[in-house]
Amino acid sequence: MFQINENYQKLPGSYLFSTIAKKVAAFSQANPDKQIIRLGIGDVTQPIAPAIIEAMHKAVDEMGVQETFRGYAPDLGYEFLRNAIAKNDYEARGCDIAADEIFVSDGAKSDSGNIQEIFGADVKIAVCDPVYPVYVDSNVMAGRCGDYDANTGMWSNVIYMPCTKENGFVPEFPKENPDVIYLCLPNNPTGTTITKSRLQEWVDYANRIGAVIIYDGAYEAYISEDDVAHTIYECEGAKTCAIELKSFSKNAGFTGVRLGYTVVPKELKCGDVSVHGMWARRHGTKFNGAPYIIQRAGEAVYSDAGKAQLKEQVAYYMNNAKTIKTGLQEAGYEVFGGVNAPYIWLKTPGKMTSWEFFDYLLENANVVGTPGSGFGPSGEGYFRLTAFGSHKNTVAALERIKAL
Ligand code: MLT
Repeated sequence: MFQINENYQKLPGSYLFSTIAKKVAAFSQANPDKQIIRLGIGDVTQPIAPAIIEAMHKAVDEMGVQETFRGYAPDLGYEFLRNAIAKNDYEARGCDIAADEIFVSDGAKSDSGNIQEIFGADVKIAVCDPVYPVYVDSNVMAGRCGDYDANTGMWSNVIYMPCTKENGFVPEFPKENPDVIYLCLPNNPTGTTITKSRLQEWVDYANRIGAVIIYDGAYEAYISEDDVAHTIYECEGAKTCAIELKSFSKNAGFTGVRLGYTVVPKELKCGDVSVHGMWARRHGTKFNGAPYIIQRAGEAVYSDAGKAQLKEQVAYYMNNAKTIKTGLQEAGYEVFGGVNAPYIWLKTPGKMTSWEFFDYLLENANVVGTPGSGFGPSGEGYFRLTAFGSHKNTVAALERIKAL
């Protein structure tokens, strides 16, 4: 009889957003007359910008012509896209990242789940609590996290770095030294972030203890404050300790299109072994490249027209964030985030748990959010709303919440 990977059996329940989708579907089926407003999963609602659509159309046409048809994409991604990324996301910010240190992929979710494969079976990971569930779940699948305690909501072999109201949602260096540190900044789910000088301290810390930082910068386009780093490579020494994951989902609306990239600097080494070489090997073996049409779409993100259109799109969502934040404050809620990120993190009223508030909001306001406890034990008593809805729906949701 074949054997299964027993680590999967350890995972509690289903993936957070699948659980929410099932609950909402059941409510919707039982209440077909209710107009549900979804501010749960961070999925975009605005159409792809015209400059990007134009580039995609052109690429589609190229695929139908013998001379311009393309088959498999290069392992690392097409040079035109990697050059545009290197120039705009790094060189323009004074960071020395070469095009061949950039690996184009089908999105940051895949990369953030896959990256753990290149580390040893016994490495100890440290995560913020609350945290984007993929980091922990993918390490559980690989057998690194020990056992799950349903009472505490914690894994025995994971280092948790609580991000709470008390510490301003800024993670502190853990007492025990980790091998791999996951940082998502600006943060999902709390919508908060840290200053560049604090990030520099994390880089210094990782270099000092010989840890690697997996830096998820998916929400970078939403940074509005000056003292926040747009990439970890703005910090001195980051190239010897950090891998950066980036997504086109949130800055360019590619959640359904799928495109992302990972930066693995050549200077990042474990002893004599190049981590860059390992990720190249993994990419070459398990991935056949993001589609040409989509990589051309990604290139258009960096065109003048693309940049101008996406600036407007980001502003549209950040206006929603403001609407949510001020609306909730007016309704008496304690609210965080929403300044450098499209997420608003609110304290649930009274002694309501996160899931109790989820049910309350769904049943009474027909608004869907995400329970904070779904992101980790320190998320209990909190709730996340996303600014990625349409403005009309966002305003309507807040009116309903205020009327409760
Ligand atoms: C979220 O809602 O946390 C994100 O949309 C999840 C993701 O980007 O995969």
